[in-house]
Amino acid sequence: MEQIAFYDAKPYDKIWFDALAPAAGISIRYLENRLDKETALLAHGCRAACMFVSDTADEPALRALSALGVEALALRCAGYNNVDISAAERNHIAVYRVPAYSPSSVAQHALALLLTLARRTHKAFTRTRERNFSLEGLTGIDLEGMTVGVIGTGKVGLKFCQMCMGIGMKVIAYDINPIWGMGIEYVRMDELLRRSDVISLHCPLTPQTYHMISRSAFHAVKDGVYIINTSRGALIDSQALLDNIKSGKVGAAGLDVYEEETDYFYEDVSSKVMSDDTLNLLLSQPNVLVTGHQAFLTDQALRAIAETTVDNLRCFFEGVKSPNRLRPAASAAAL
Ligand code: NAI
Repeated sequence: MEQIAFYDAKPYDKIWFDALAPAAGISIRYLENRLDKETALLAHGCRAACMFVSDTADEPALRALSALGVEALALRCAGYNNVDISAAERNHIAVYRVPAYSPSSVAQHALALLLTLARRTHKAFTRTRERNFSLEGLTGIDLEGMTVGVIGTGKVGLKFCQMCMGIGMKVIAYDINPIWGMGIEYVRMDELLRRSDVISLHCPLTPQTYHMISRSAFHAVKDGVYIINTSRGALIDSQALLDNIKSGKVGAAGLDVYEEETDYFYEDVSSKVMSDDTLNLLLSQPNVLVTGHQAFLTDQALRAIAETTVDNLRCFFEGVKSPNRLRPAASAAAL
């Protein structure tokens, strides 16, 4: 049996990893800690470590892992903006990811955020539990015929486009690699901002996409636009979003990700003081719906994540090539 150090383990991770790892000759040391340069020490005796979106695999952490004899890092996610791939190569650590596990799960969550905000069901839920059946303030919008601007039409974005077409929305999109023949009208970013009633983000966080929804982008959008983000928090300038929510320029925001989320997301911090005023104020607005990076969290996706991760680790231990290995050249643009 090869033992691996499994960082930031949650009870829902264990269900599928416990079911699949033993048959691949892998035993798992579950760690509640997040990976960083200090906690790297907890991987002693392991040739591989496994991490998720809130772990940090920067040069110091990778150097510490390498010094302990760790030769592989298996990500339980698709995005890898928290891993220094070049530093991993320099420290002789092979990095693997799960490129796709359930694009429909993520797209459905984006749609759930949109429908909830459009029909105020988050308000109705709390109201009716108090036996308050008043409809005052619950007037929604009918999305049929409205224009949704989708930024990034890869695996998740394409599913989201199809779902939006299913409810009668007009879909326009911006992507540096358009897919033709799917009934999507590709437009330039400035046109997308100008024409969209709803903007949904589905591109990765890269140096090019950092704060792509910037203060100036908010100037260009339609009054009352809905913003949906299930991709990465730093695609949006959060302070600019808050200011535009407060001014009424943005009609609603559904956020599954937040740019400073690692300080709070995935943990119960309800009894702690929250020092992030931007997040505090976003959470306090009636037209902002925040979920804690849960778009991936379905039974199907958890199973697929475990299957691919275990297979990535098996490939590493058996010395077999894997298409899921990340190389510096391929990832240089996708930080
Ligand atoms: P993907 O790689 O299949 O698609 C990304 C698309 O973005 C591609 O079509 C690409 O050409 C496009 N793109 C790249 N740079 C761009 C730019 N500068 N401007 C416009 N488009 C650009 O990725 P997938 O699987 O669809 O995932 C999308 C994102 O969703 C991921 O990057 C990840 O950050 C996020 N995600 C979030 C999850 C959650 O639980 N909230 C779960 C899984 C993914």
